[in-house]
Amino acid sequence: MKIKGKVCVVTGAASGIGAEIAKRYVEEGARVVIADLKEDAASEKARELTAMGPGEAIGIAMDVTSEDAVNSGIAKVVETWGRVDVLVSNAGIQIVHKIEDYPYADWKKMLAIHLDGAFLTTKACVPHMKKQGGGAIIYMGSVHSHEASQLKSAYVTAKHGLLGLARVVAKEGGQHGIRSNVICPGFVRTPLVDKQIPEQAATLGISEEEVVKKVMLGDTVDGEFTTVQDVAEVALFLAGFETNALTGQSIIVSHGWFMN
Ligand SMILES: NC(=O)c1ccc[n+]([C@@H]2O[C@H](COP(=O)([O-])OP(=O)(O)OC[C@H]3O[C@@H](n4cnc5c(N)ncnc54)[C@H](O)[C@@H]3O)[C@@H](O)[C@H]2O)c1
Repeated sequence: MKIKGKVCVVTGAASGIGAEIAKRYVEEGARVVIADLKEDAASEKARELTAMGPGEAIGIAMDVTSEDAVNSGIAKVVETWGRVDVLVSNAGIQIVHKIEDYPYADWKKMLAIHLDGAFLTTKACVPHMKKQGGGAIIYMGSVHSHEASQLKSAYVTAKHGLLGLARVVAKEGGQHGIRSNVICPGFVRTPLVDKQIPEQAATLGISEEEVVKKVMLGDTVDGEFTTVQDVAEVALFLAGFETNALTGQSIIVSHGWFMN
């Protein structure tokens, strides 16, 4: 139980991958902050996880693209629990279009959630981690941090960008015991992916079954989706890893879709 009692902020944790990471951390006895745009869903998830124990959770409203919302959210965490040991910058959305049809407003929205969100939450947590003498920062990248796919110009750009941010934070954080790593999942069946299946089928002119079999899972070793539990296990490992031996890295969890 390496993260027992640790204060872990997980953004976008009212749903999908973030919710499972929050659950896994509470199972290990951590104090978890479910920070999400959806305040009601965040509070509901926090109640559910606290009832499960042995750790506990609180829900806070946070739009990761708003500097004020991020700063006041992290201030509330420190007021409540006195510290921040782990940040999982996970909140994200997906918007798919061919590049020539990609609305500029959607491009900016994508970069704001994935990159501004990662920057702002990191900036708000690092001073507390420095004061405490360490911490773990985990960015939710994707196989698309390393690989490209059609229709995903903004997503692939943003997820590649997270690798750069993580490496800089690893270098700046090293002398303060702050570790920074990226998890790169393959396709995981969450609302974010479910929404894309009919959209991609329509844009590419193929069936939904073909989107799943060929586009999403065609290059895996076994045709299987990665699960939220798979990703949460890696997030637990990174949160509990205690030295700078593992920093500035990205770990790909994708049934072999991408190997490096
Ligand atoms: N599902 C996949 O296949 C997959 C694969 C690789 C990486 N990822 C990444 O994992 C992360 C989580 O995705 P998911 O599949 O669990 O999606 P999801 O839609 O299930 O959950 C995303 C959560 O983020 C929240 N959110 C959205 N915008 C926000 C904002 N501005 N501020 C705060 N919270 C916000 C949503 O309310 C939601 O609770 C994303 O960064 C995504 O890019 C997902």
